[in-house]
Amino acid sequence: MVRLFHTLSPAISRLNFIHPRIFLAASPSIRLQRNHVHNKLKPKISPSSSSKFQRTRAYSTTTRVSSLTKRESWKLDDDGLVVLGIETSCDDTAAAVVRGNGEILSQVISSQAELLAQYGGVAPKQAEEAHSRVIDKVVQDALDRANLTEKDLSAVAVTIGPGLGLCLRVGVQKARRVAGAFNLPIVGVHHMEAHALVARLVDQELSFPFMALLISGGHNIIVLAHELGQYTQLGTTVDDAIGEAFDKTAKWLGLDLRRSGGPAVEELALEGDSKSVMFNVPMKNHKDCNFSYAGLKTQVRLAIEARKIDAKCPVSSATREDRRNRADIAASFQRVAVLHLEEKCERAIDWALKLEPSIKHMVVSGGVASNQYVRSRLNNIVENKNLKLVCPPPSLCTDNGNL
Ligand code: KG4
Ligand code: ZN
Repeated sequence: MVRLFHTLSPAISRLNFIHPRIFLAASPSIRLQRNHVHNKLKPKISPSSSSKFQRTRAYSTTTRVSSLTKRESWKLDDDGLVVLGIETSCDDTAAAVVRGNGEILSQVISSQAELLAQYGGVAPKQAEEAHSRVIDKVVQDALDRANLTEKDLSAVAVTIGPGLGLCLRVGVQKARRVAGAFNLPIVGVHHMEAHALVARLVDQELSFPFMALLISGGHNIIVLAHELGQYTQLGTTVDDAIGEAFDKTAKWLGLDLRRSGGPAVEELALEGDSKSVMFNVPMKNHKDCNFSYAGLKTQVRLAIEARKIDAKCPVSSATREDRRNRADIAASFQRVAVLHLEEKCERAIDWALKLEPSIKHMVVSGGVASNQYVRSRLNNIVENKNLKLVCPPPSLCTDNGNL
């Protein structure tokens, strides 16, 4: 979870009306923008809002926020702006301290790897307990590594959604404790908006308007970012996100889930033949920019069953032939899962360029953007369209505290 510092000032000013549904279709300005777009290209493009974007709980940050305005003016003009970011939307507890100029002073992540392996995925209650156990230490470590104390902070930023409600609450409560004790403003951060905007930390040339493909465990969306807070969603998943498909494939193939499923599939895929198992590319006949991964997941499960692969037998103990079968499925799945991204991105770029011909960049972010195969395939697509791919390093693609 991330947010770019250069955007902090407008982000805080937006807090006067902020709530977890800030990303799309939330503020009047966004609605205006979307209607405008809709009229222009109707009926070819009908940007839709995703219910997943809106699936968040309303935390009552507004009371604090309304009392911030008098602090904003002097704090936000200050070059010495320092913000503590807190992220607990899913399975890792993260905190970071970032300067107003985008310099990351510290970044701490406490992983729930063992829980992931034990439960075969994220178990919300256990994840919440794990966050609660480590949140104080993670925040303290982030401050210590930055050689700062709470008194040096200008604001506290925290992910307010979308994510697992039980987990988000741990981060929000911590943010409120710190902010309350030191009279600091809280910046509520939209998880997916943060995935998109973190790219501005790593590429100084990146400016609005740009495109962003956000691919994580729970989301698969492609947006056109007109400016801060103004986004047109060109496509979203109609069922599962690509990260979910990676995670289930890893689980069914008996892979080590401690680093989450994606990296395990990516690694095994290197040993396999990506054309050996014939999976269908999803939504071939849909002339839109939406995604679907539920059907591909089913295809993978059936292929695994047909080859009598036993997930209870870890890949490390599999026979040579069994391992080869698993690697072929991993490679074939990855190829088709990414082909689906490629096809939809190509179309989305065409759509976006009609809306904003000045676009120069496409950001690809979210946990799945750590995948090297994903990066190189999407780079080809983006370059063919004369755009530049901006992919944050893996440590900034996956959830983190750089708000
Ligand atoms: O953004 P993120 O850290 O958390 C969510 O917002 O969901 O993304 C986590 C997702 C998981 O599904 C994980 O398996 C996937 O990103 N992921 C990867 C890779 N690294 C993480 N998927 C494919 N290849 C990877 N190298
Ligand atoms: Zn995420």
